[in-house]
Amino acid sequence: MSTVPTLELRGLDKSFGAVHVLSSVNLTATAGEVTALVGDNGAGKSTLVKCVSGIYRADGGEFLFDGTPRTITGPRDAAQLGVDVVYQDLALCDNLDIVDNMFLGREETTRLHTLDENAMEQQARQALAALSVRTVRSVRQIVANLSGGQRQTVALAKSLLWKSRVVILDEPTAALGVAQTEQVLDLVRRLASQGVAVIMVSHNMNDVMTVADSIAVLYLGRMAAQIRRADVTQRQVVELITAGRSGNLGLSPAESLGVVI
Ligand SMILES: Nc1ncnc2c1ncn2[C@@H]1O[C@H](COP(=O)(O)OP(=O)(O)OP(=O)(O)O)[C@@H](O)[C@H]1O
Ligand SMILES: [Mg+2]
Repeated sequence: MSTVPTLELRGLDKSFGAVHVLSSVNLTATAGEVTALVGDNGAGKSTLVKCVSGIYRADGGEFLFDGTPRTITGPRDAAQLGVDVVYQDLALCDNLDIVDNMFLGREETTRLHTLDENAMEQQARQALAALSVRTVRSVRQIVANLSGGQRQTVALAKSLLWKSRVVILDEPTAALGVAQTEQVLDLVRRLASQGVAVIMVSHNMNDVMTVADSIAVLYLGRMAAQIRRADVTQRQVVELITAGRSGNLGLSPAESLGVVI
């Protein structure tokens, strides 16, 4: 396929003092697909996410959006380019209801400059419906009372509502039970099918093999490989995570660093 990726990283470098945390990292994320970002503890996943979301400034490398180079100097740049990161716990305000959370900082007003509660409520319902969410009883529920899975649902519906182009999910199922994990993975797929380029950071190989179209493996700050899920076994992915290469992938050790298939 020759589709231009929504997001492409080329040669991303990031150091903290003398410590090289990311070295010449390449990554692509395509609209309509789920790209899993995997790697052992300390491989550099969170650092990479923070560079893309503008929390850290990369030392070198290029960010391309729809094939065009862009600069990300802070979170505002990333937000304007349509990058949204959904963290497990920090995404929502517990004391507000679902509608208020979805519109926080971007409230709709009527011509009389009062809050347009009806319009916001309707759009919140539409965003949830677009993701086929049926487990949320009322959009006026306080978020503190929602389950972990429902909170993820609201956070993802919010991304959809604000037309995010790249949604990065940080361990979306880490704190969830079996049934809720399945629901959230379903939701991740539906978010992608709405045209979003989804990047999912995960340690859970079952989740990755279930939901990803593409798998990007970081090993000690380098991209060991980005491969199509359909082309690898779980065992090969684990080899890439633990050794930075997989003998069965048909890649030479040199090729297996930084290769994008
Ligand atoms: N602010 C910082 N200053 C110095 N070193 C850092 C900083 N942030 C991260 N590191 C180092 O960079 C490396 C990558 O860390 P990072 O948090 O990106 O890994 P990760 O892949 O997200 O790991 P995990 O799976 O444990 O979340 C680690 O060795 C870490 O100690
Ligand atoms: Mg991390």
